[in-house]
Amino acid sequence: GKTVVIAVDGPAAAGKTTTCLALADTFDLRYLESGRTYRIVAYEAIRRGVPVDDRSAVVGLCDRLIDESRTGNLFTSSRYRPQELRSNPVDLAVSAVARIGELRGRVTELIHQWARVQARCVVEGRDIGTVVFPTAPAKFYLTAKPEIRAERRVRQEGHGSYEEVLKDVIRRDQADMSRPVAPLVPAEDAVEIDTTELSVAQVVGRMVSVCRDRG
Ligand code: C5P
Repeated sequence: GKTVVIAVDGPAAAGKTTTCLALADTFDLRYLESGRTYRIVAYEAIRRGVPVDDRSAVVGLCDRLIDESRTGNLFTSSRYRPQELRSNPVDLAVSAVARIGELRGRVTELIHQWARVQARCVVEGRDIGTVVFPTAPAKFYLTAKPEIRAERRVRQEGHGSYEEVLKDVIRRDQADMSRPVAPLVPAEDAVEIDTTELSVAQVVGRMVSVCRDRG
């Protein structure tokens, strides 16, 4: 059958993961964090000594990783621990990896493969409503002031100083918004929510009511 997708995009630490998990729970949806794949490629590039600005080497690495993963889908690989994928070196390398158009094509294909076997799912990322699922019936774009996002991240993960995290958030926003391929921008039909002054429950409440309105 046809897969129903809820697309949730936005900058780093805007609350996408937290709210997506709540939506998945409310509507019984499968959840996919697309940033994880870009992080896996960045992590393996560092580990294997592949320079992240060498485009063809990174794409080659991605193809090798796809071959090596038993299921053929990197997302389902449980080999990677969240602490590894969210480490500072990976934060620093991931935007370089994510600006490689050919690599984005591979990742988009992996997401489509995954979604094809789901009935209903919620997918978070930077280009989900704009590029990966442009016809998704419900799209959200979450934002918040960078200072608030950094504060939330520091509180949640308990590593990295506020200054470090804020710098990373601002640097990645800039890199993701200004890249030539699939830049971070709200889809025209996305519901934008500025979460700066809202609680998680308030944000989720708004998202749930939009989803109900759109069937
Ligand atoms: O969501 P997360 O912060 O884990 O994403 C890490 C990085 O992966 C982002 O900063 C962005 O460069 C890239 N990304 C992307 N497109 C997506 C998801 C993530 O370019 N759909």
